[in-house]
Amino acid sequence: MKTLKFAVLPGDGIGPEVMDVAIDILQAAGQRFGFALEYETADIGGIAIDHHGEAFPESTKAVCDTADAILFGSVGGPKWESLPPKEQPERAALLPIRKAYSLYANVRPGLLYGELTDASPLKTERIPEGIDIVCIRELTGGIYFGQPKATTTLENGESQAVDTMVYKTSEIERIAQVAIDTARSRGGRVCSVDKANVLETSVLWRKVVTEYFAKHAPEIELSHMYVDNAAMQLARDPNQFDVLFTENMFGDILSDEMGVICGSLGMLASASLGATNNQLGHPYGLYEPSGGTAPDIAGLGIANPCAQILSAALMLRYSFGEEEAAQAIEKAVRDTVTGGVRTGDIAFGLDTVDTKTMGAAVLRSL
Ligand code: IPM
Ligand code: MN
Repeated sequence: MKTLKFAVLPGDGIGPEVMDVAIDILQAAGQRFGFALEYETADIGGIAIDHHGEAFPESTKAVCDTADAILFGSVGGPKWESLPPKEQPERAALLPIRKAYSLYANVRPGLLYGELTDASPLKTERIPEGIDIVCIRELTGGIYFGQPKATTTLENGESQAVDTMVYKTSEIERIAQVAIDTARSRGGRVCSVDKANVLETSVLWRKVVTEYFAKHAPEIELSHMYVDNAAMQLARDPNQFDVLFTENMFGDILSDEMGVICGSLGMLASASLGATNNQLGHPYGLYEPSGGTAPDIAGLGIANPCAQILSAALMLRYSFGEEEAAQAIEKAVRDTVTGGVRTGDIAFGLDTVDTKTMGAAVLRSL
């Protein structure tokens, strides 16, 4: 039997409670689709600071090194907010782990089921059939990592801070390929978002993307949009997009906007795919909910586990090539959430639910 070897990093806040549910679903999927799970759990984020003195300790890296993928919960919380910014879990765990495994391609599906359009802050008539778009965000370049990045004191005594936005052709081309692959599996349209009226990196981005698509994917309908306009268009008519494709910081912002118009962060999964393949010949990747640790509801058993479950499904798809199992899980979540809302079984919205009840319902639907 095929064995799926992955690292489990539940992290902080609601991470551990939704992770438990996702593992149960993966076990059940394994029984149905004929694979075994072999996973090792390790500390990441605030809990790793508490136990090991750092957010992404060597011992955790060792667990990830031998795995074929990482299933990630979420990191951070009020307990660690007084640390210097560079040592806070989000920055000291997520950014190094992205760099360590060259997780350059962040895939964030923005999905709102047609039955649940009421959950969106957008007027229902703007999204009569729900929302179905995907954001492809470059994740290891741009202003997040460019050098110099520093705060210095000027001669007159005032402080000055610098971040540097850097992109090179090869970084743009490899993420362009992910946008192409994604568009081919969906509606065949890519909107590349930049700020080419102001930024040099964006001028290069637009040029490289245009040439790369012309050469490698002439059948894909490519358009370009400035980021300020894209933010507006997303709120006006999200379904005009199929694949929204952009650099690191613009993708950070736009994917949160996408999250909120899709009704609930509790439903949003993400995949961060690496530059190297795992032992199975599929991309190494990190899979995490887009929502964060939700410290206000952590430990109460009311966090929506769907984003974690759907992240596990993405792991099956991208890092293990288990497309059928991935689709079965996605369908089970959909049936649970839409069916539950219709029958009143799950009458608590999407941000908070009864975590275990919802997990059990997804299990039954699988
Ligand atoms: C995200 C998060 C991270 C980011 C933070 C926590 C470093 O907001 O994954 O979108 O900005 O990339
Ligand atoms: Mn973000």
